Amino acid sequence: MKAWQITRNGDPVDVLELAEVPTPEPGPGQLLVRVLAAVANFPDVLMCVGTYQVRPPLPFTPGVELCGEVVSAGPETSGFAPGDRVIGPAALPHGGYAEYALMPAESVVPAPAVLDDAEAAPFHMTYQTGWFGLHRRAQLRAGETLLVHAAAGGVGSAAVQLGKAAGARVIGVVGGPDKAAVARELGCDVVVDRSSEDFAAVVKEVTGGRGADVVYDSVGGDAFRKSTKCIAFEGRIVIVGFASGDIPAAALNHALVKNYSILGLHWGLYVRVDPGAIKPVHAELTALADAGKIRPLISERLTLADVPDGLRRLAAGTTTGKLVFVP
Ligand SMILES: NC(=O)c1ccc[n+]([C@@H]2O[C@H](COP(=O)([O-])OP(=O)(O)OC[C@H]3O[C@@H](n4cnc5c(N)ncnc54)[C@H](OP(=O)(O)O)[C@@H]3O)[C@@H](O)[C@H]2O)c1
Repeated sequence: MKAWQITRNGDPVDVLELAEVPTPEPGPGQLLVRVLAAVANFPDVLMCVGTYQVRPPLPFTPGVELCGEVVSAGPETSGFAPGDRVIGPAALPHGGYAEYALMPAESVVPAPAVLDDAEAAPFHMTYQTGWFGLHRRAQLRAGETLLVHAAAGGVGSAAVQLGKAAGARVIGVVGGPDKAAVARELGCDVVVDRSSEDFAAVVKEVTGGRGADVVYDSVGGDAFRKSTKCIAFEGRIVIVGFASGDIPAAALNHALVKNYSILGLHWGLYVRVDPGAIKPVHAELTALADAGKIRPLISERLTLADVPDGLRRLAAGTTTGKLVFVP
């Protein structure tokens, strides 16, 4: 089968090699799937570079999130049949940027029937992260103001949809007029273009000086620092990622005097520490998709050959929604 391989760490465009490799055999607890669609996610970029918290042994095939069709199930699995359409993480080193991949049976969930393969692929990590961040960590309530950074991006667009579905007023921050149009289309009540406006001033203005109750921050750097200037009394800042490459330091005296909380979120840890929480959240997300309240924004449906360039553009911050590779 064809698979992209990393044999040394570096920029994806420099180190990804398209190789002809044997189709992997599913081990205990694993499923062999035919890849229907695999997502471009920041962790894929960071794994190629070698700076992600998970460092798969070399060589490996990236592609941490996918939609696949079950071909066969390994020992110690039950309840799966060939042809089942599933979504979830890949069992690295056999990731989704290939014709076939392995998935951990305990972590996969059914692909919602209402979504096509490309839409279903980012419906796992991307939307689960949004749900756990907004509901379990930040306890977002209807009527509250939610500020979403990189609102037109993959993780951000999911948070905008989930925030609207929860009855929040959503302010989206984006970089540039094209992304602003995407954020408006997604349903943001207020859109701020950070390239021409000071988002903290806009948040203060549109909330009558109160500030945002919840901030969903996947960018870090100035996005975090300025969020502390416009966070409401008893507000919650959810730390989701550092797409800017700048990991900011928090001024705890400032959190004390303004009574706000800084909440870390690593969704993958729930998979390990509280795995029973994942399937009920999937059921809730599926119901929201069935009701037409959330739907992944797939900006580009690309081929397997496009993986290096797609990851390059994601890392450069020029993409919107999700890029999905269909072998
Ligand atoms: N905590 C978790 O469990 C978890 C789970 C999944 C993903 N994540 C994290 O979430 C983040 C977003 O992932 P994603 O795949 O959905 O990416 P994405 O949001 O589609 O792309 C990143 C966005 O960040 C913004 N950005 C601001 N400064 C940037 C810079 N210097 N370079 C690149 N981008 C910059 C850009 O949007 P604007 O120009 O509009 O600002 C860009 O489009 C990543 O850090 C990822 O690791 C965390």
